[in-house]
Amino acid sequence: MQNYSQAAENNKAPIANIMGRHLPSDASVLEIGSGAGQHALHMSHTFPGITWLPSEREVVLPILRANLTRHGSSNIQSPLALDLAEHAWCGDSVDAVYAANVMHIVSDSLGARLVQLAAEALKPSGLLMLYGPYKYDGRFTTESNAVFDQWLKDRDPASGIRDFEAVIATAECAGLTLTQDYAMPANNQMLLFERT
Ligand SMILES: C[S@@+](CC[C@H](N)C(=O)[O-])C[C@H]1O[C@@H](n2cnc3c(N)ncnc32)[C@H](O)[C@@H]1O
Repeated sequence: MQNYSQAAENNKAPIANIMGRHLPSDASVLEIGSGAGQHALHMSHTFPGITWLPSEREVVLPILRANLTRHGSSNIQSPLALDLAEHAWCGDSVDAVYAANVMHIVSDSLGARLVQLAAEALKPSGLLMLYGPYKYDGRFTTESNAVFDQWLKDRDPASGIRDFEAVIATAECAGLTLTQDYAMPANNQMLLFERT
């Protein structure tokens, strides 16, 4: 496995647990920012009836492709080149859009673009699932998230942990309504939105 992430290894089971409660057994899922593909691999093995469409920026695709080719299963589709800064959605509608640890990496405007693209890609009543840390009422949920936010900003000033309320407002504008906010291990959240 190239570009293996210990965090993705640790959070894949709790995330699958939430997905299992909400995804139809034959769901089509578009993943944005698949990284090394650890979640794509785990979810597609855990839920053999789903169809998983991973995506990434062009520069990351060779590693993602290599990992999926080596470890993948038949219900993972060939990964798509999808850069939020460049691409619009032009594929078939999907039952769910999933993005883990992407909202705090990309800029605020690309985060809004992710939400908008999800709304365009989803079938009616489809689900947007956003995994990662958030701030509530302008406050970090833990001191370690405040430290993480500063680390992100030192690396890239456009990065940073997003305000829950701002994400909800962006989603509402795009026709997506928050239905669940699950507290997850390691100070993360899983936000679920339904296309209304
Ligand atoms: C912290 S990694 C998360 C990877 C994986 N989802 C996980 O949880 O392990 C953030 C991902 O966002 C992707 N990303 C960054 N900018 C992006 C953009 N403009 N469009 C799409 N993906 C982007 C990166 O390539 C990277 O794989």
